[in-house]
Amino acid sequence: PVDCRSSSPVHEEEFCLYLILYYFCLGKQSCNNWLMQNSNYVFGLQYNTKYYYKIGTGDSAREFWFQTPPAIDVDAPYTFGIIGDLGQTFNSLSTLQHYLKSGGESVLFVGDLSYADRYQHNDGIRWDSWGRFVERSTAYQPWIWNSGNHEIEYRPDLGETSTFKPYLHRYSTPYLASKSSSPMWYAVRRASAHIIVLSSYSPFVKYTPQWMWLKGELKRVDREKTPWLIVLMHAPMYNSNDAHYMEGESMRAAFEKWFVKYKVDLVFAGHVHAYERSYRISNINYNVTSGNRYPVPDKSAPVYITVGDGGNQEGLAWRFSDPQPDYSAFREASYGHSTLQLVNRTHAVYQWNRNDDGKHVPTDNVVFHNQYWASNTRRRRLKKKHLRYESLEGLMSML
Ligand SMILES: [Fe+2]
Repeated sequence: PVDCRSSSPVHEEEFCLYLILYYFCLGKQSCNNWLMQNSNYVFGLQYNTKYYYKIGTGDSAREFWFQTPPAIDVDAPYTFGIIGDLGQTFNSLSTLQHYLKSGGESVLFVGDLSYADRYQHNDGIRWDSWGRFVERSTAYQPWIWNSGNHEIEYRPDLGETSTFKPYLHRYSTPYLASKSSSPMWYAVRRASAHIIVLSSYSPFVKYTPQWMWLKGELKRVDREKTPWLIVLMHAPMYNSNDAHYMEGESMRAAFEKWFVKYKVDLVFAGHVHAYERSYRISNINYNVTSGNRYPVPDKSAPVYITVGDGGNQEGLAWRFSDPQPDYSAFREASYGHSTLQLVNRTHAVYQWNRNDDGKHVPTDNVVFHNQYWASNTRRRRLKKKHLRYESLEGLMSML
């Protein structure tokens, strides 16, 4: 058993599931009190095991289940869903229903959950209704949470001068196990992936706690055990939509060099209510006095993907810059979600699924090669011994 509340030198937070229970929450105060008294860590779970749990007593008891992930292994297959800016509208429902059919085992959520701050009085009722709305998935599998601007909820006009209060009370993260000092930024390892969650609306410039933590966390990543290095944030560092244009630029200036140095595979963001995927590009030579103003192709750079199209009531971001920049590989203003299927240490199958299709149809479909294992010639020789899938045909045939 691992105590997820204490600092764990071995990153064993994958044993720990934090059950957040919404079922008896009726109002803001009662809900927060109830959650504080009844949320519990579950310790000592086994990998790859189905557990059943019951909420409530007597006739009101309801039973749910969840499946723990496979043990961490360099070739452990696993499927993530990626959802952002979900809200609680008909489009949100469509996104969630499509995701439920995808076979995803866990959701990487890139911020902006309930949009409770958009409703009059903001009394917590919309946080409760959102909890009930997503229960059809969150009761059965983990969602790796990240916050967005709609979680800030700084409302001095309503007497609320603290930030992120409902989010922090309702959606807990195993941050201490990854040596983070804040639940707003943390990391988890799952199957063959190391996932780093960054907070776009917490301090991140040089010497801040988030900057210090990320610097150390990137050194702790072991690609021999977890080949896939994935970063989540809310405001995208690369996006060619007019909406929220360059709002992620300050984080790009702070962290892009590290993403290239450590060969991050994928960076997922939300915030912009449209879908976009970049090529592998970087702009690390840019500074305010250089003439190198444009992103350039860079094999060591991540692919940047914006999935802020979950379905909230603010609508889609229709206006893209014209013409499409060279770094932008695919973009479309439609509601949807993505899936990332890690097949082994070298290959992952990625899809973006548009809700309008009415069924599970991939609209943007890419096979990603791992930035560590697929780009190193020494490991290319190694993988022949280890891998069963030597060709794309072989890979696709087992999907
Ligand atoms: Fe946002």
